Amino acid sequence: MMIAIAFLAVPSTTTSQAAVPSFAIVTSGTLPGAVDAANVIGHERCGKCHASEVGAWSGSSHAKKSYNLLSHEKAPAFAKALGVTGNLAQSVCGDCHATKQADTVIQGVSCESCHGASGPERSIKGWFSIHSYYGKDLKDRKKETEDHYKKRIAASHATGMNSSSHLYELAKNCLSCHTVPNEKLVNAGHPTSSRFELVEWAQGEVRHNFQIDQTVNAKSPSLWLDPHWNGKGRTSANRKKLMYVVGQLVDLEVSLRSRATATEGDFATVVGRRISSVLRKLKKLDHIPAVAKALAAVEKIDRTALKTFGAGDKKLYGDAADAVGAAARAISGSSDGSDLGEVDVPDDAVGEAFLDG
Ligand code: HEC
Ligand code: HEC
Ligand code: HEC
Ligand code: HEC
Repeated sequence: MMIAIAFLAVPSTTTSQAAVPSFAIVTSGTLPGAVDAANVIGHERCGKCHASEVGAWSGSSHAKKSYNLLSHEKAPAFAKALGVTGNLAQSVCGDCHATKQADTVIQGVSCESCHGASGPERSIKGWFSIHSYYGKDLKDRKKETEDHYKKRIAASHATGMNSSSHLYELAKNCLSCHTVPNEKLVNAGHPTSSRFELVEWAQGEVRHNFQIDQTVNAKSPSLWLDPHWNGKGRTSANRKKLMYVVGQLVDLEVSLRSRATATEGDFATVVGRRISSVLRKLKKLDHIPAVAKALAAVEKIDRTALKTFGAGDKKLYGDAADAVGAAARAISGSSDGSDLGEVDVPDDAVGEAFLDG
């Protein structure tokens, strides 16, 4: 489907009038991959309007620790295992420990590693200008028309923005780094975040839900909770239920994809354990139709098959991963958590949340 977004083409900060192109909405199939370096604008620019978010991020391991691990004593051995020489930040290591830009590297996992590359700037091909443009000279989001709102949100997503509503894409980015889906690396002893669980890992030091009130780090995204466009009834408890379920489904998807190409060795063992552990958790949630669908896709695989490796694995596990991913994407797009029934959500948090209001 093609939509014209002429009304969005000229945000108030833009000086030149560009021709008005239209673009295809991405509806399915595409998954977030490594961030598009050419279109990364950088956290400093976000800070102009998101000062508290940048403040919280600056104190997190993503800003303070992930990059420095590239100078860790074990780094040379990992680089050797991948045949990487030269500047590690600009190599494949930098995809997970930094944020690559067109001609430089941000020292850490930053805003656009999770929310998607936002450029090009001042163009309707990038969400940087689109995502906060309510209309000509409009600063109050409550005065935006509903039609404009809907088009703005659709255009932001179509240009690669993962907002707080896109839990599937956000979770996929976390897990694509934290499960370390790279056989050579893991077989060389590079760790994986074996305990990663989305709610716990997003609630602590990573939490930065300041959009509506920059002095309060809300328990869940303030925009997502706000009844203005969403209607009443959204709660943080329901948001966390949805996050937990989507997090587990995406974990299973990503792990099945790793298993599809694994050969016998440490990586396969780590991945096999992860699949078994996630399946145990998901079985407690089989009253949720999307979970039941995902489990049905995996049940087709003989459990003992996890221990044997062969040419058929790519298709066997790849097909199951596709089905699980489709279930995760569907529930992420359709549920606000209120329809999920009983879900036992962990209430620990990794690290301390910043500026806790
Ligand atoms: C010119 C000011 C401005 C700049 C610069 C800016 N933003 Fe925003 N951003 C906003 C406003 C205003 C909103 C609230 C939009 C709404 O009401 O839907 C917002 C919302 C968001 C949201 C939440 C969307 C949701 O529904 O969950 C994210 C994520 C975000 N911005 C990320 C970024 C990132 C990353 C950057 C830098 C690459 C950035 N923004 C730069 C003003 C800005
Ligand atoms: C681009 C890769 C990447 C993405 C995307 C990513 N992380 Fe991380 N994360 C890292 C690296 C690297 C570290 C540093 C590891 C360390 O602190 O030992 C880290 C550290 C963390 C830590 C601190 C862990 C600790 O042991 O103290 C938390 C919590 C965390 N990430 C949560 C998340 C969540 C939640 C998401 C998704 C919303 C996410 N991460 C997305 C790469 C990533
Ligand atoms: C797919 C994403 C990914 C890639 C690629 C990657 N890392 Fe990591 N790295 C991580 C994550 C996530 C962690 C934290 C794991 C955890 O929770 O302990 C980590 C941890 C580390 C550590 C800490 C080791 C320890 O024992 O505490 C070092 C050192 C490191 N990485 C170096 C590298 C180097 C060098 C490369 C490139 C050769 C690289 N990484 C590539 C994601 C990645
Ligand atoms: C590790 C991944 C990650 C990084 C890095 C990250 N975000 Fe987020 N962001 C998220 C997730 C996940 C949510 C939804 C959190 C939740 O549900 O509690 C979110 C929510 C938001 C929101 C909505 C908050 C609200 O109150 O509605 C804004 C705005 C935002 N991020 C901006 C930023 C900016 C600006 C940066 C860089 C300074 C940034 N984010 C860095 C993953 C990330």
